[in-house]
Amino acid sequence: MKNVETTKLERANFSSKLGVILATAGSAVGLGNVWRFPYMAGENGGAIFILIYILCVLLLGIPCMISEFIIGRHGQANTARAYKKLAGRTPWSVIGYMGVLTGFLITGYYAVVAGWCLQYVWASLIGQMHGAPTYFQTYFAEFSADPVKPIFWTVIILGGTYLIIKSGVRDGIERASKLMMPTLFLLLLVIVGASCLLPDAGKGIEFLFKPDFTAINSDVFLAALGQAFYSLSIAMGCICTYASYFSRQTDLTKSAVQIGVIDSFVAILAGLMIFPAAFSVGVSPDSGPSLIFITLPNVFHQAFASMPVVGYIIALLFFVLLSLAALTSLMSLHEVSTAFFHEELHITRKRAAVIVTVSTCIIGIFCSLSLGAVGQTLEFFGRSLFDWFDFVTGQIFLPIVGFLTCIFIGWFVPHKVVHDEFTNWGTLRGRYFHLFLFQVKYVCPICILFIFLHQLGLI
Ligand code: PHE
Repeated sequence: MKNVETTKLERANFSSKLGVILATAGSAVGLGNVWRFPYMAGENGGAIFILIYILCVLLLGIPCMISEFIIGRHGQANTARAYKKLAGRTPWSVIGYMGVLTGFLITGYYAVVAGWCLQYVWASLIGQMHGAPTYFQTYFAEFSADPVKPIFWTVIILGGTYLIIKSGVRDGIERASKLMMPTLFLLLLVIVGASCLLPDAGKGIEFLFKPDFTAINSDVFLAALGQAFYSLSIAMGCICTYASYFSRQTDLTKSAVQIGVIDSFVAILAGLMIFPAAFSVGVSPDSGPSLIFITLPNVFHQAFASMPVVGYIIALLFFVLLSLAALTSLMSLHEVSTAFFHEELHITRKRAAVIVTVSTCIIGIFCSLSLGAVGQTLEFFGRSLFDWFDFVTGQIFLPIVGFLTCIFIGWFVPHKVVHDEFTNWGTLRGRYFHLFLFQVKYVCPICILFIFLHQLGLI
C-alpha cells in the first residue's frame, strides 16, 4: 500500500492551468499550423477551407481531444498503460500501444523537418536567404539531399529536446512551454504586422477571409478534417500522455476548447503571415509542401526588397518561430515514448529519454538520407523512407487510433467513468456531456472512417 501511495505522490504533474494550456497548445501548435495549414488552405480554396476547418476542429477535433484527455487523466500513466487500465484484459489495450508506436515513429521524421527549420534559421542569420527565385529552389533541393547537414540539425534538435524532456514535466516541459509559446505568439504578431502592411496585402487577406462557396467539394472537407486531427496532435499518444499530468481540477472540456481555439488562431495567423506577402509579390500560395522552404524565403526577399534589413529580420524571425513551434511539438512526441519506457521498463526518466533520443535519431538519419544522399537504396515501392513514415503514421495509424479511441470511449468504457472524468467527479455541470457522447459514439468515427478511406483512395 505504501508503495502505491508513494508512486501516486511521485507522479509528476503540471503546476498550473496556464502550464496545462501552454504545454498542450505547444504540442498542437507546430509545423502543422505554420507549414501544413497555409498550403492546404492555398490548395483548397482559402477562406472556405478555413471555415470548414474550424467546424471540424469544433465538432470533431475537440471531442476526440476530450476522449484522449479522459483516458490519460484516468490512467495517470503513459498512453499504453492508460488504455490498458480502462481496457482490462480486452484487445482494446492494443490501441494504447499503437498510439505510443505512432508517436515514436513520427518523432524521428518530424525531427528531420524540425532540423530543416534550424538550418534555415542559421542560413537566414548568415545572410544566405537572398537570391533569384530559382536560387531558393536549388538551395532547398541541395540542402535536403545533403548527406551531412540535415542530419547534423536533426541531431541538434533532438539533443535540445532531450535536454528539456530529461528535466521532467514541470522543470522541463512546462517551463520550456511557458517561455517558448509566448515568444512564438509575439513573433507571429510581428510578422503578421509586417506582412499585412505590404502593398497589395489586401488581396491575400481577401483570399483568406472571403469564402468562395463554389470551391466546396468532398476533397475540401476531407482535407480540412485530416488537417484538424493532425494539427490537434490527436491519436499520437501526445494528448493522452500530457493529460496524465493534469490534475483532478483541470476542466477537460474547457481546456480542449481553449487549445482548439489557440491552435486555430495560430493557423489563421500563419495564413495572415504568408498570404498577404505572397500576393503582394504575385507569387501563388498553392505550391504545396515546398511553400515554407522554397516559396516563402523568396517571398520575403522580394516583398522587402526595398528594405533589405527588414527582409533579413523577418525571414530570420519567421524561421525562429517555425523552429519554436516544431520544438514544442517534438517535446510532446518525445514525451510519449519517454514516459512509456520510463514506466514500463522501470528505468529512470533520464535513461528512458536517452533511449528515445538515440533511437529516434537513428530513424531521423535514415529518413533524411532517404531524401537524397542514398535515396535509391532507401526507396521501397516508389516511396522514400521519409514518405513511408509520413504515410504510415499520418494516413494509416492516425485514423485507426483516432477511430478506435472514439469507439472505445463511446461504446466500451463505462459511461460512469467517462462522466466522472468529464465533470471532475460531479464538481462541474457537464452540460455538454450528452452532446460529447453522441459525437464520439457516432459522428467522429464515421467521419474518421471517411478520411481514412479517402486517403487510401478507396472513395
Ligand atoms: N500538431 C502538430 C502540428 O501541428 C503535429 C503533431 C502531430 C505533433 C502529432 C505532435 C503529435 O504540427
